[in-house]
Amino acid sequence: MTHHPDQQGFTVWFTGLSGAGKSTLAEMLFHELRRRDMKVELLDGDVVRTNLSKGLGFSKEDRDTNILRIGFVANLLTRNGVATITSAISPYRHVRNACRQMIKDFVEVHVDATVEECARRDVKGLYEKAMRGEIKGFTGVDDPYEAPASPEVYIDTMTQTPEESLQLILDALLEEGYIEDSTRLVHAPQAHSGLTDLDGQIGTSLATGSVPKGGEGSN
Ligand SMILES: Nc1ncnc2c1ncn2[C@@H]1O[C@H](COP(=O)(O)OP(=O)(O)OP(=O)(O)O)[C@@H](O)[C@H]1O
Ligand SMILES: [Mg+2]
Repeated sequence: MTHHPDQQGFTVWFTGLSGAGKSTLAEMLFHELRRRDMKVELLDGDVVRTNLSKGLGFSKEDRDTNILRIGFVANLLTRNGVATITSAISPYRHVRNACRQMIKDFVEVHVDATVEECARRDVKGLYEKAMRGEIKGFTGVDDPYEAPASPEVYIDTMTQTPEESLQLILDALLEEGYIEDSTRLVHAPQAHSGLTDLDGQIGTSLATGSVPKGGEGSN
């Protein structure tokens, strides 16, 4: 693979309900871009909430602040030529659009699944609690999720495998001129990057220590 000293920065902005598949696809994309010798950073919702946004809650105002902080950092990285991936729920359209306007090289990926399907997956066991009323203000249950009107990529995780979804994202990045080849290069399960909360779900952990879970999980 060629090295890219003049790499054009861009941000792949995943948005979708908890359990829709943002972190799963973000991890897969991270490894694909790394494999292309690109500079890559991943800002995952849960991980951000344990450091950059520690102390913020889940009110509308705090959620907006959280997303604007992610957008701020994504912009700094993007303008320095980094392939930046964000994977927070980012439920509000106006805040995502504010990030889009700031970053410009912005590829919005709507990772879609119904609330019922996400609750069936219940990757973190949070939907059950939210539906019992033990967690208040959970996106998709008793807090809004505003789907993007015209994302660059729409992913239907109800009908696609993660590999099929990843291919759509790589194809879009090729189309936008951000990568030179959309052929998937990574097939074996990858070691967990440590940059999402998917420790144990993807390949083998790098044993960097698992990332503590954030707040009420509704990143
Ligand atoms: N096409 C697909 N793309 C991504 N994930 C999929 C797909 N089909 C099924 N899944 C499954 O959906 C689940 C998604 O979980 P994941 O932790 O990635 O969600 P998330 O969107 O990051 O949630 P959260 O906002 O709570 O962090 C995984 O179990 C994954 O295997
Ligand atoms: Mg996640």
